[in-house]
Amino acid sequence: MKKNYYITTPIYYPSAKPHMGHAYSSIIADFFARFKRIQGYKVFFLTGTDEHGQKIERAAKEQKKNPQEFCDEISKSFKDLTKILNLSNDDFIRTTEIRHKKAATNIWKILEKKGEIYLSKYSGWYSVSDEAFYSEDEIEEVNGVKQSLSSGSKVEWVEEESYFFKLSKWQKPLLEFYSKNPDFILPISRKNEVLSFVRSGLKDLSVSRKSFKWGIQVPNNKDHVMYVWLDALTNYLSAINYPDEGNINFKNFWPADLHIIGKDILRFHAVYWPAFLLAAGINPPKKVYGHGWILSGDQKMSKSKGNILDPIEIIESYGLDPLRYYLIKEVSFGNDGNISKDKLENCINSDLANNFGNLCQRVISFSEKNTDLMTANEISFIDDDISILSIYEKNFNRIIKYIDNQDINSYINFIVEQLFAANKYFNDQEPWNKKKNILRLNTIVYTTLELIRKVTILLYPIIPDTSLKVMSIFNTSDIKLETIINNEYIKKNTKLKKIDILFKKIEKNVN
Ligand code: MSP
Repeated sequence: MKKNYYITTPIYYPSAKPHMGHAYSSIIADFFARFKRIQGYKVFFLTGTDEHGQKIERAAKEQKKNPQEFCDEISKSFKDLTKILNLSNDDFIRTTEIRHKKAATNIWKILEKKGEIYLSKYSGWYSVSDEAFYSEDEIEEVNGVKQSLSSGSKVEWVEEESYFFKLSKWQKPLLEFYSKNPDFILPISRKNEVLSFVRSGLKDLSVSRKSFKWGIQVPNNKDHVMYVWLDALTNYLSAINYPDEGNINFKNFWPADLHIIGKDILRFHAVYWPAFLLAAGINPPKKVYGHGWILSGDQKMSKSKGNILDPIEIIESYGLDPLRYYLIKEVSFGNDGNISKDKLENCINSDLANNFGNLCQRVISFSEKNTDLMTANEISFIDDDISILSIYEKNFNRIIKYIDNQDINSYINFIVEQLFAANKYFNDQEPWNKKKNILRLNTIVYTTLELIRKVTILLYPIIPDTSLKVMSIFNTSDIKLETIINNEYIKKNTKLKKIDILFKKIEKNVN
């Protein structure tokens, strides 16, 4: 079994400061990266910025900056965000780096050598905002302005000499590839969209632009820069040292296990990307997951709509882990999710403060009063204890499957159920009435602590800082998934460490 795992976020356009939508993709990818690490995988987790193209060139011009200087500034705010979000990324790639230009140039040369690219002329619609070519039937006119049906962004007419990639020829091989790799595109609803797009016939794709300069130069033709999507997609290879295919990183991590992306860029990742790779003789990635949008007031967030939710502001008011938990749990993965401060506050109060936080505090303060913050020397389990402790063992394979199927919703539901179950166990066992049976009292405390330890490990990919804080009760920071099925993990006679309140309940104004 391959014990390496390569996961990526989209690389973001540094055309404006990052917003909640970007934070969402990154947090989701971080969640998977952290889970696979505690599962024992060697993980390579990549994120970065997509810095070429007309969109960036124009944004820089608006601010009277040269594009490189402009990118340096905004790319830095995306890099800073990786720290603010506590992302565990192993690398941050910028497409203006030499290592990336080398990889993109190499891919181009291979495609050209294999006869997959030819020079012709493009005339058609182009959206600078999406950096996408659209056909007549993919656009509409609203108030005299032509725009893309799918994204609503303005399109403009382009007529220029251009290199084309022979995408049409890859229609059949792509369909074969999808049918041999049924999990390549998830969720299923999105897969169907892609299949019908490919089945309806593919036209050759324009892969260079001539009317502006901000891009990677096409080898042997100074007049053209590469189409920004061909350039950008290659980032997934450049970060693992492609074109040096003998390199250990390339050998270990390619093909990528999972590209996390938003549904808006599915066509690029699920159609163009595998076609480029197949044409270049490189294996396509294993899976592309197109998640839904974070909506603000029922609309996709965008600069032009002025409905941007700033992750940094939310983190300053509520803390990072509550935001991570909220986005991972409350936005049903794969679907769009409308987020609001009100829902975030409810989530903090019910799940984090009342359910998880309260469980930890109650047991610790009970232990402080009754067992001197020690786990006992002698423990004697009864059926009630064994049955609740063994839930993890019984569900272990299922938990891993949830993750490997990107079924975040079921994963979280399992955790929430276990939090309720642990609280209920502690209530039902009434350790406060067992002061005359110290063996029983000690066993209840021990069992509840062990339940806390187990659930905290499952919570680690979601709320890493808080989980580490809880693990410090047991004087450890060693988080390994397999230890949730080891009932003897908390040593007897362990001194427990007290911790501060994990989540403050938010007082809500009732109008
Ligand atoms: N640069 C391209 C991606 C190239 S990948 C080889 C791009 N960048 S982007 O900055 O516009 O956005 C990238 C991703 O950010 C989206 O695919 C999505 O994952 C995320 N989101 C941006 N807005 C979003 C929401 N409102 N909601 C959820 N995610 C969204 O496209």
